[in-house]
Amino acid sequence: MPIHLLTEDVINKIAAGEVIERPASVVKELIENSIDANATRILVEIESSGKERICITDNGEGMSEQDARKSILRHATSKITSADDLFSINTLGFRGEALASIAAVSHFSLLTKPAASLAGFNLIIEGGAIISSGIAAAEQGTVIEVRDIFYNTPARKKFLKTDAVELRHIIDVVTHYALINPHISFRLLHNSHELLKSPSTSEWRSNIASLYGIDLARELLEIQATEEGISLQGFICKPYHARNDKHQQAFFVNTRWIKNHDLVKAVYDGYHSLLFVNRHPLFVLHLQLDPTKIDVNVHPHKSEIRIEQKERICEFIRKTVHDCLQQHQLLPSVNLQMEQQTSSSVSSKRSTYRFEPSTQTVLHVKEAAAASYLSDMTPETPVPQFSLPPSSSPSFSSTSSSFSYPAPSPSTFPELRLLGQIHKTFFVAETHGGVFFIDQHAAHERVMYEQLMAQLNQGNIETQELLKGEILDLTPVEAVLCRDFQTQFEEMGFRVENFGGQSFILKTSPAVFGRQQVRSMFMEILHAIEDNKNKVHELRELIITRMACRAAVMAGEELTSARMEKILAQLRETQLPYTCPHGRPTLLKTTADELEKKFKRKG
Ligand SMILES: Nc1ncnc2c1ncn2[C@@H]1O[C@H](COP(=O)(O)OP(=O)(O)OP(=O)(O)O)[C@@H](O)[C@H]1O
Ligand SMILES: [Mg+2]
Repeated sequence: MPIHLLTEDVINKIAAGEVIERPASVVKELIENSIDANATRILVEIESSGKERICITDNGEGMSEQDARKSILRHATSKITSADDLFSINTLGFRGEALASIAAVSHFSLLTKPAASLAGFNLIIEGGAIISSGIAAAEQGTVIEVRDIFYNTPARKKFLKTDAVELRHIIDVVTHYALINPHISFRLLHNSHELLKSPSTSEWRSNIASLYGIDLARELLEIQATEEGISLQGFICKPYHARNDKHQQAFFVNTRWIKNHDLVKAVYDGYHSLLFVNRHPLFVLHLQLDPTKIDVNVHPHKSEIRIEQKERICEFIRKTVHDCLQQHQLLPSVNLQMEQQTSSSVSSKRSTYRFEPSTQTVLHVKEAAAASYLSDMTPETPVPQFSLPPSSSPSFSSTSSSFSYPAPSPSTFPELRLLGQIHKTFFVAETHGGVFFIDQHAAHERVMYEQLMAQLNQGNIETQELLKGEILDLTPVEAVLCRDFQTQFEEMGFRVENFGGQSFILKTSPAVFGRQQVRSMFMEILHAIEDNKNKVHELRELIITRMACRAAVMAGEELTSARMEKILAQLRETQLPYTCPHGRPTLLKTTADELEKKFKRKG
C-alpha cells in the first residue's frame, strides 16, 4: 500500500485513544483544566456512570472567544511555550491535547466566560468538527459537557466496564483531586444524586474527614518534614489501621496525583516490620520538589514521573514516615543484639510463650468412657494414614515428616479420646495407633463455616438487632458499594440503611459477631468487595468465611473439656472435616510407630 498522510480526524482519534481511555479519563482531564484555571468551585455531574453525560462546571478564569476556539485544537495550550518549559512545569496540563482528544470522540460543548467579558461564548462540536458557536449568557468560568463518549469509536466503547466499575473510577478521580486541593470545593452528582461533597477548607484534616469520614481522619498521624529542596506533608495511618487493600493510598507530587512504585515502597519501608503480611497502610502524602528536578512528560496520562536523585528522596520519605511512627511511640525501640538473636531462630521466639497455670493442661477422662471409645475400633479398621496432599502449602510439608494427614472423607473420621489442650491452641487426642493434634481455631472454623453456610442457603442467617444502630461514615466509593450491595448484605444478616450523604446506619448484624466486632467486620467485608467487585457467589463465600473465622474459638483461648469435646463432635459431623475454610489442615496425626522409632525402640 502506498504511503499517505492520515487525516486530521484519524490523527485525533489515535491521540484520543492514548489520553481518553474511559469516562474517568475525561473527568480527570477536565478537573485538571479547572484547577489550572484557578477555580475554587468544581461541580462534576455525570449520568450513567459518565457513559451518557459528563458535565464539569468551574468558576475559574474562563476563556475569551478566541482562546475557546483554539482550546479544542490539538497542541493548543496556554501552559507552555517552549521545549525548555517542559522541565519546569507548574500546571497539571501542558500537552495541549486533552480537549481535542475528548472532542474527537464525543458530542462536546463548551460554554465559557472570563471575568472581563460581559457575555459568554458557546461552542458545540461533534466528532471534532464545530457545528455551532455564538454568544451566550454565562457566569464567570467554564462549563464543559461531554455526551455519548466513544459514540464514533465503537471498538473503544466495547472495552468499557460495567457501570459500577466505571463509576468507581470516576469517584476515585474526584476523591483524589479533592484530597489534594482542600481549598477547592468539589461536588460529584451521579444521576442527580450527590455522591461526594468536599467543601473548601484551610484545614487539610477536615478535608480528609469530608472524604474518608471523621473517625478515620481523626486517627491519622500528621507528617511534615523539609530538607534541602524537598518537603513531605500529609497523613499516614497507625499500623493497626492498615487495610487488606490499597484503595486509600494517595501520593501526590507537586499537587499531581501520581503512580510511582518507588515512592510508595519508601512509605512501606518507613513502616518497617510494623505491617502484617498483606496489610497496606492508608496515606495521603504530598511531596513537593523543585519542578526542574522531575520529568512529567513520560506518558500521555501525565501520572507517571521521572525524578532526579530518586534514592535520596525515597530515603527522605522512609525516614520521615519512620520518625513519625516513632514519635507516636508506635515503633518499639529494638535492642539490635536481641533482634539478631531472636531472628536467627524462630523457635527462640516461640519459647517466649508464657505458660500459665491451667486447669486444662491435663484433662480427666473417665477410664470407662475411654475404653469404650477405643474398643469400638477393631484392629481390622485402622485409621488411614496419608501423607500431605501435594497441593498443601510448603510450610506444612516441610514440617510434615512425622505427621500424617487424614483422608478427605467424613466416613473415615477417626475415633478420638481427648487428652487435653496444649499451648491453649491445640487439642491432643489419642487414637488407635497414635495421637492427633487438632488446631482448635481451624477445627471450629470449619464447624462454624458449614453451619453458617447452611443458614445462608436456607435464608435464615441468625441476626441481632443493634439497638442504637452503628453509624458508619463512608468514603464515596464505599457508599456506592453499600447501596449496590444492600440486598446481599441484608441476606447475610447486615441490614444497612442510608443515613444521609455518605453516612449509613447498620441496624442488624449476624448474631455470631460480638457488638464491638460488628463495625470492623462490616468494613472488612466492604473493602473485600471493593477488591473483588461484583461477583456475588464469591461475596457469599467471603462473608461466610469471615463470619466463621470471627465466630470460631481463637488460638490462645483456654477451653473446658466439655467445649473441646463438643467441637470435636461437631467437626465429625461436617462435610469436610480435615481442612478449615481457608484450606489449612484441622488435624494432624503422629503414629505410635513413629514415636517408637524416635525413642529408638524400633529400628
Ligand atoms: N476549564 C478551563 N478554564 C479555562 N481555560 C481552559 C479550561 N479548559 C481548558 N482551558 C484552556 O484550553 C487549553 C487547552 O486545554 P487542554 O486540556 O486541551 O490542554 P492543556 O491543559 O494545555 O494540556 P493537556 O493536554 O496536558 O491537558 C488550556 O491550555 C487552557 O488554556
Ligand atoms: Mg488539560
